[in-house]
Amino acid sequence: MLVLGVESSCDETGVALYDSARGLLAHALHSQIAMHNDYGGVVPELASRDHIRRVLPLTRRVLAESGHALSELDGIAYTQGPGLAGALLVGAGMARALAYSLGVPAVGVHHLEGHLLSPLISDTPPEFPFVALLVSGGHTQLMHVAGVGRYALLGETLDDAAGEAFDKTAQLLGLGYPGGPALSKLAEAGDATRYMLPRPMLYSGDFDFSFSGLKTAVLTLVKKAGPEAAADIAAAFQAAAVDVLVGKSLAACVHSGAKRLVVAGGVGANRRLRAQLSAEAARRGIEVFYPRLEFCTDNGAMIAYAGAQRLAHAAPDLAFAVKPRWELAALDAV
Ligand code: KG4
Ligand code: ZN
Repeated sequence: MLVLGVESSCDETGVALYDSARGLLAHALHSQIAMHNDYGGVVPELASRDHIRRVLPLTRRVLAESGHALSELDGIAYTQGPGLAGALLVGAGMARALAYSLGVPAVGVHHLEGHLLSPLISDTPPEFPFVALLVSGGHTQLMHVAGVGRYALLGETLDDAAGEAFDKTAQLLGLGYPGGPALSKLAEAGDATRYMLPRPMLYSGDFDFSFSGLKTAVLTLVKKAGPEAAADIAAAFQAAAVDVLVGKSLAACVHSGAKRLVVAGGVGANRRLRAQLSAEAARRGIEVFYPRLEFCTDNGAMIAYAGAQRLAHAAPDLAFAVKPRWELAALDAV
C-alpha cells in the first residue's frame, strides 16, 4: 500500500511516501524556523501561509524522487491534530481534496501517534509492547504501548512540556528559537556540576512531570550568576531535565515490566538524554529505541507511516454505519 503523508501542524511542512511492503520511499521537509526566528516563536498566521506555499512543491519532489505518480497512491494521510488550526487546515484541505480527486481514502492522523510510532520506521523496529517517552515542544508523556492505537497513559507533565522548558530556558539565556538544540550545544561547553538545579518530582512515586519550577530556578540563577555563566547554567539545566526524564522513564518500564523503551519527539534528539538513557537502561536490561535523528522533530514520514497502519486496518471507504442510539441534540446545526 502506497501512502502519501502530509504534516503541517506547526512550523514544519513535511511530505513523505511510505510503502507498506518496501518501507519509506522518499521524504521532504521545509522548516519555517528561520522565518519565525525574528519573532522569538511561531507566528500562526505566517505558519499557515507558508504551509500553503510549500506543500505542493514538496509533494512533487517526493513523487519525483521515488519515481511514483499520483495515480499510484492507495491512500493519503495527514495530521488532523493537535496543532495550530490554520496550519492543520492546509494539510487537511490539500490531502482531502487530492484523495477525493484520485478516488482513494484519506485518513487523519493524531500528531502524537505519528511521533510515537516514528521509531518503527526502521529495519530493526521494536516489538510491542513497549513504554514510550514522548518529549516534544508541546507534550511530555509516558505511555504504555501494546499495539497501534493501544495506548495507556502512565503519566504526563502537569505544566510545561520538556521541549517548552528547553525553549524557555534558552530564551532566558538569550539563545534563539527553537531553544532546545542551541541550549544543548551551549551546555556541551559548560560545567554541569557548578550549579545544582532541582530535579522536580523525580521521587514523586508516579510518572508525572513538572518543569515550570525548573525554569523559575534558572531565572533566579541567571539573575544571580550573570550572563557569563550561561554555559554552566545551560549544562545544569540540561542535567536536571535529563535526570528527571531518565529516572521517570526507567521507573515506568520497571513498573509495567517493559523490556523496551521508545523515545520520540523533538527532545529525543538531545545527545545527553540519549547517552544517559541508553547507559542506565542497559544496566537494567532494557533496550532503548530512538527514531532516526531527522524524524525526532516534526516530519511527513511519521504521518505517512502511522496513516499506512491505520489505512491497512480501516474499513473500506464505502462503509456506512447506523447509530442505534442517537441523541437528537447531538446533531450539528446546518
Ligand atoms: O516534536 P517537535 O518537533 O515539535 C512538537 O511536536 O512539539 O519538538 C520540538 C521541540 C522544541 O521544543 C525543541 O526545542 C526541542 O524539541 N528540541 C530539543 C532538541 N532538538 C529539538 N530539545 C533538546 N535538545 C535537542 N537537541
Ligand atoms: Zn511534533
